[in-house]
Amino acid sequence: MSRLIVVSNRLPSLEAQASAGGLAIALKQALRETGGIWVGWRGDLSEDAETPPETIAREGYDVASVKLSEAEVAGYYLEFANRCLWPIQHLRLDLFRFDDAAYEIYRRVNEKFADAVAELATDEDRIWVHDYHLISVGRFLRRKRPASQLGYFVHIPFPPAEVFSALPRAEELACDLLSYDLIGFQTQNCVDNFHAYLTHYLGGTVGPDGRIAACGREAISGVFPIGIDPMAFAEIAASSVATDALRQIELGAHRTAVIAGVERMDYTKGIPERFRAFQHLLQHNPSYRGEVSLFQVAAPSRMDIPEYQALSEEVDELAGHINGRFGTFDWTPIHFINRPMSQQAVAALYRASKIGLITPLSDGMNLVAKEYVAAQDPEDPGVLVLSRFAGAAAELTDALLVNPHDTAATADALKTAIDMPKETRIERWRQLMDVLQGNDIHNWQQKFLSALDAACQDLRQTPMDAA
Ligand code: F6P
Repeated sequence: MSRLIVVSNRLPSLEAQASAGGLAIALKQALRETGGIWVGWRGDLSEDAETPPETIAREGYDVASVKLSEAEVAGYYLEFANRCLWPIQHLRLDLFRFDDAAYEIYRRVNEKFADAVAELATDEDRIWVHDYHLISVGRFLRRKRPASQLGYFVHIPFPPAEVFSALPRAEELACDLLSYDLIGFQTQNCVDNFHAYLTHYLGGTVGPDGRIAACGREAISGVFPIGIDPMAFAEIAASSVATDALRQIELGAHRTAVIAGVERMDYTKGIPERFRAFQHLLQHNPSYRGEVSLFQVAAPSRMDIPEYQALSEEVDELAGHINGRFGTFDWTPIHFINRPMSQQAVAALYRASKIGLITPLSDGMNLVAKEYVAAQDPEDPGVLVLSRFAGAAAELTDALLVNPHDTAATADALKTAIDMPKETRIERWRQLMDVLQGNDIHNWQQKFLSALDAACQDLRQTPMDAA
């Protein structure tokens, strides 16, 4: 049987609990089934970065950690992946910076990952590369393992063609993507954007069933919206540890209706915009003062990058400003937690919250939105207010969908959510939960891998010249 080799920038956390029900659990299950290998970076700096990856046996699969030097982390991860690709792919042309030297390091690190995989894999193995850090791994790997089955999944958005074209070396990177047999995206919108880039900028073609051709290569593209394990998450939300956390939230909230926001501190997540919408609600609806509180968890992220430091300061200031303006001795409008929290505590917060306010300005999927739904009490569920710019909005159409740039409309949606009758909440929640159960993380993983098998068969049976 062919083994599965997963390749991602970060290796999964060593604590199994840290990602219960999430992507890591689903991939680990697939790795165990085939005795596979997870290749990635541990997130640290190595002084012996030229030495080959260290392989450690885990339960039923291996983990191979690629070592990166300080200069590699600076050029590949901080600069090119997170100050160039990340802002461009999230429509922030005002923030992106292209640096030739960093791009070269990105390519070399991608080659390093590819070398590590080539050493560990055989031609029979299926190789599944993840996310924007590793776009070019396919190109380098294809040279060494021409017959391998190569799949790639883009976790973040693929922007409109014109935006992507602003990226120097966009053509080279898009051609690198065509080195994979299957390229998976979160939404149809992302696939359409990618196809538009291929046809308008690379003179490529898009055939039926997602078959694409450009740069002298062919591949299959498709939509694979990532899910969660809703039942596993619901169990965590109802667990006793979560119940303790829930009691603390209730104490802190002083019986006010809780609105929850949870994410990494990232400018794509729309945290200042959300705070302004909440401020608007309080300003224009004095009766809600003392009655609703926003609990915002924003775990520090990529703090070596100046844009993230600036955002963190802005969010701090805004929370202080709103609390200073509206707060009273016995009511705090915004409870702002700027630290990572355990999965149980977050699940408890979702369950205690009448509203999940998830309003990214741009987001590949946003699993927090899905987790919020899964954590609800079926007898008395909360309401999800979701940005229409989150990939999840394409599936979760029974949420209250908002444009997060529209402060007044977001505040109105909050009002609708607060006042929504219980029967309507139950009805909407049921629909949302059906969507989550119909496409959970295990289906996602199976669908992608089956599509990879089919893509390889299809591409090898009818290559371009014969098609
Ligand atoms: O969703 C994009 C992503 O980069 C993931 O790959 C990653 O797990 C997450 O954001 C956290 O980011 P980082 O690895 O930069 O801390």
